[in-house]
Amino acid sequence: MIKKTIQVGLIGFGTVGCGMAEILLQREEEIAGRLGVPLCLAQVADLDIERERPIKIKKSILTTNAHDIIANPKIDIVVELMGGISPARELILDAIAHGKHVVTANKALLAYHGEEIFKAANVAGVEVGFEAAVGGGIPIIRAIKEGLSGDQITDIFGIVNGTSNYILTKMSNEKASFSDVLKEAQVLGYAEADPTLDIGGGDSAHKLAILASLAFGTPVPIKEVYTEGIAQITPMDIAYADQFGYQMKLLAIAKIADGQIEARVHPTMLPKETLLAKVNGVFNAICVVGESVGETLFYGRGAGSAPTGSAVVSDLIDIARKRLTDQQAGAPTIRVPHTGTLSSHRVTLPIRPMEQIESRYYLRLIVEDRPGVLSKVAGVLGQHHISIASVIQDGRKETGAVQLVMMTHRSREKDMQAALKTISESKTVYKPTTLIRVEGT
Ligand code: HSE
Repeated sequence: MIKKTIQVGLIGFGTVGCGMAEILLQREEEIAGRLGVPLCLAQVADLDIERERPIKIKKSILTTNAHDIIANPKIDIVVELMGGISPARELILDAIAHGKHVVTANKALLAYHGEEIFKAANVAGVEVGFEAAVGGGIPIIRAIKEGLSGDQITDIFGIVNGTSNYILTKMSNEKASFSDVLKEAQVLGYAEADPTLDIGGGDSAHKLAILASLAFGTPVPIKEVYTEGIAQITPMDIAYADQFGYQMKLLAIAKIADGQIEARVHPTMLPKETLLAKVNGVFNAICVVGESVGETLFYGRGAGSAPTGSAVVSDLIDIARKRLTDQQAGAPTIRVPHTGTLSSHRVTLPIRPMEQIESRYYLRLIVEDRPGVLSKVAGVLGQHHISIASVIQDGRKETGAVQLVMMTHRSREKDMQAALKTISESKTVYKPTTLIRVEGT
């Protein structure tokens, strides 16, 4: 029998769940017009079903037991928006085993267990939509899997954590304190339940692992993604970056060269005139470089209930369309492979160790204020083949100490770390040296 509605079950009625439910209710007619049949929110599970929410739904569809949704034979698509690894992983695998299509925004889960989930979905012949897992409302997953499928992607540069970008922007524009801005981002619903994932770079690393794996057709183990967050960034470094003509961003970088993948997340100075440097507040942007197309840029709100909810609904529509076509064809089809590449054609490429990457560097040292110290530091860098591009030694003195700020030319990470180790052993260097990598010209 041809279905007259597509029934959706939601697990996790939090910020994004409310955003999704609101869109489904408000745009009921438009969605039915795009799909041919209505998309109906049939059941919602959350441990807390009493709390006041910004959206009103019928009490009769609420349950505290996620298994009610998985076992409900009427439900076609299960949406997992509870976040975290467990029990989200078990619930998704169970939903797949029950023949349900799945939509999730769970980037941490996909970064750790994506391969397992996609394999199970392939076996069961069901879809897993995850547009909302990266870039909030930006359709970057579909862009890589479909829009750029004719190209060979070579590089990805992404600002993919709204909370960190919000914090860095406010620190830069309003000289606001780190902790005040973090609190604001939490109130606005941008931050993760555990905000150390945002400021520690973990959330960006999860998203980068997903993007790189789609772009390069290889698994990207999350443990091999070098990850450094923004907690050590001070207003002073942001001010020096500005003086050198740069903006500070938490950047997720993935590259493919010589059969190896580079995947890293760290604070990065970007030339102020570049488009990525102008991406402010909770906005995300992902620059994807293809061999044929060159640079492309995808920009939009990277967090928040409505933008992320809209990405979830786009997956629901996509999967519902497929479900309706399958019914007419009489058999399930996989139109676009989950990872963009057929599993039979995926390869396992090595991830380049961090010490082998090359970058330009910003260094800020607090050194003893006496003759010969600058030349000593420069000498150590020179011994490690690191050439200095410019130096600022300004009057912002601590007691008997001075700030020595340097920009280097392109150098090897291994050489830089070795030089810093020697420099840190010197009695004339007072505090750990701040190192920030620099991209662009
Ligand atoms: N905490 C995430 C962010 C939410 O700030 O970008 C969206 O994934």
